[in-house]
Order: sequence, then C-alpha cells, then structure tokens
Amino acid sequence: MAKSLKLENIPRTVHVRVDGSKVVFEYVDQRLLPGELRMCATSEWREVVDAIKSLAVRGAPAIGIAGASAIALWMGSLDVRGCWDSSSAMELAQVASEVAGARPTAVNLAWAVEKAKTQVETFVEEGISEIGSLCSRICSFINEMEREDESTNRAIGEHGASLLSEGTRVLTHCNAGSLATSFFGTALGVVYAAAEQGKIERVFADETRPVGQGARLTTWELSRAGVPVTLICDNMAASLMASGGVDAVVVGADRIAANGDTANKIGTLGVAVLAHEFGVPFYVAAPSSTIDLATKQGSEIEIEQRDPAEVLPTPMDGVDVWNPSFDVTPARYITRVITERGAFPPEELVGVFSEQ
Ligand code: MRU
Repeated sequence: MAKSLKLENIPRTVHVRVDGSKVVFEYVDQRLLPGELRMCATSEWREVVDAIKSLAVRGAPAIGIAGASAIALWMGSLDVRGCWDSSSAMELAQVASEVAGARPTAVNLAWAVEKAKTQVETFVEEGISEIGSLCSRICSFINEMEREDESTNRAIGEHGASLLSEGTRVLTHCNAGSLATSFFGTALGVVYAAAEQGKIERVFADETRPVGQGARLTTWELSRAGVPVTLICDNMAASLMASGGVDAVVVGADRIAANGDTANKIGTLGVAVLAHEFGVPFYVAAPSSTIDLATKQGSEIEIEQRDPAEVLPTPMDGVDVWNPSFDVTPARYITRVITERGAFPPEELVGVFSEQ
C-alpha cells in the first residue's frame, strides 16, 4: 500500500543566494546532528572549504554544490562595483583548485567546481564584466544545479524503486540521503520512492564507523521522513544477512570508475562481500556525475585519509591509526548501478555514458 512520506521534515542541506551586495552560502551543519539542527550562513569561501573538510557539509553531491558555491562566494569577495580583469581570471583558477582539492575522492566536488569555473569564464567571454552581475548570474546557475540534483535524485529513486518488491528490507551504509545531496538523496532516494509505493518494510542503517553517518544522519533523516529504521552496528550486518533479514543493499557512491569499481564510504566493501556471499542484491545509486570514465578502474581512485582522532580521540602511546575515508567495491559485487538514466550492470556503464 502506498505510504505518505513526511519529506517536508527534512531540511535542504545547501543553498547559495545573493543578499544585497553579498553572496551567502547556507548549509546544515551535519556535525551537530542528530542533537541540533543548525542552519549556518557564510560569505567567506574559505569557510566553505573548511565546512567541506570538517564534514559539516558532506556527501558527494552536497559537497559539489558547496564547492561551486565557494566559487560564487569568492566572486562576492571581489569589489562588486569593480570589473573582471586578467588577475581575476588567474585568481579564479587558484581558488577553484583549492576548493576542488578539499576532498579528493568524491568526483562530484571537482566536477561541480569545474562547471562553475567554466560558467564564469563563459559569462566573461560573453562580455559580462561587472562583478555584481557575474555574482548574480553564477548564483542562478548554481541554484539550477541544486534543482537538477534533486530531479536527478528523484529519477534515480524511480528507477531504483522498480527493482524492489513489496515488503523489502533494505540495508544501507553511511548516509546517501537527502542530507548528502541538494534534496531527496540517492540511495535513500530509492528508499523514498519505493516507500511511496508501499514497498519498504524497513531500512537497516549501518552505524558507519568512525564518523557515524549512519548512526547520526541516516537514522535521523529516515525517522523524520516516516520510514521505519533500525540502527545496527557495522559488525552486525553479517549476522543480519545470514539470518535472511535483508532483501537488498542500496548504497551511494563517491566515484565510479569506467569498469564499475565504486568508491564509497569505508565499510561498503565489506557489506558488498557479505551481500555476495548471502545472495542479496547489491545496488549502487548515484547520479551520472559520479561516473568518472577517465578513471579506468578502482585502483586509480585516490582515497582520502582522515585524521586519526576520528578513530581514536585520545591518542595512545605506541598505537598508530589507519583511517581511510573510503574503500573501493569491485564491480563484480555490484548487481546494478542505479542512475537517473536507468539501472545498469556495471559493465554497461561505458557504453551508456561515454558520450557525456
Ligand atoms: O565522508 P562522507 O560522509 O562525505 O561520505 C559520504 C558517502 O560515502 C556517500 O555514500 C556518498 O558521498 C554518496 S552521497 C549521495
């Protein structure tokens, strides 16, 4: 039976706008959830870089929009009555490279920053040189990216929902939800679309050590939306699958190589191996902007290493910490990659997406 969701209870995570002579970026500080829902605002592009690095803003599509917004904020920091010149062009290249480098694994960040940079260059080539005018145009362009991201996610949701049957118990890892995107989410977009069709019995959310995106964010988001959710520790997934408690795994992605190998939050690989062992379909839900055909295979993907304090808050003498933020799931464990254009076996991605 169709179920009505309460998506209006989920905030929009990222938004850029012009406010008088300033460009303002608004975002939910995800570090504070689930305890506090705080909307933050800044006009400093370096603060956006810090927000991306510190995971205040996180999730591949959301950091893409944040990165593009950082370019708009930098433009807003120029004299709005002034005009674009050759030094602005050089500075743009430097700022874009710094923003794109904030987190290396999610290709959406570099992709969106490049899109914003190229669009500024196009406006300049078209003869627009007044900074204030460039700022408002680039903000409108990014607002369109925000809308496109949501409609992409809704299409991913529809394609994914068609793969699930009634009474499905989904296991997900990390948070590839509305919070990780402009709105609606990728993996959780599939859940929302399927829930609207009455197909979701329950979602099991992996805790997702060490930062707890599943424990803090996926649980918060799904419960606010009215989707039944059960939190499990990461090390419980095997037992749950062995007991037949999971019908499908749906996760997001940070970068999908041409051969279908997929980088996603650390721990995804283990879930994929388990799903393979227990005969559970393993779906990766992601926009086509996450597919990086220039990267031939997973071993070429740079994996971000993060602060040991995320794993061991109080250092111990003689104890080292290894804290990779992502792992790579080989294509052979992936049943389908669900995109806005349809759900494809990983080996078909090159054929479908090579013209983009
Ligand atoms: O380190 P994070 O929290 O940014 O990692 C997020 C993930 O791994 C998500 O699964 C991925 O970015 C897809 S979000 C739609």
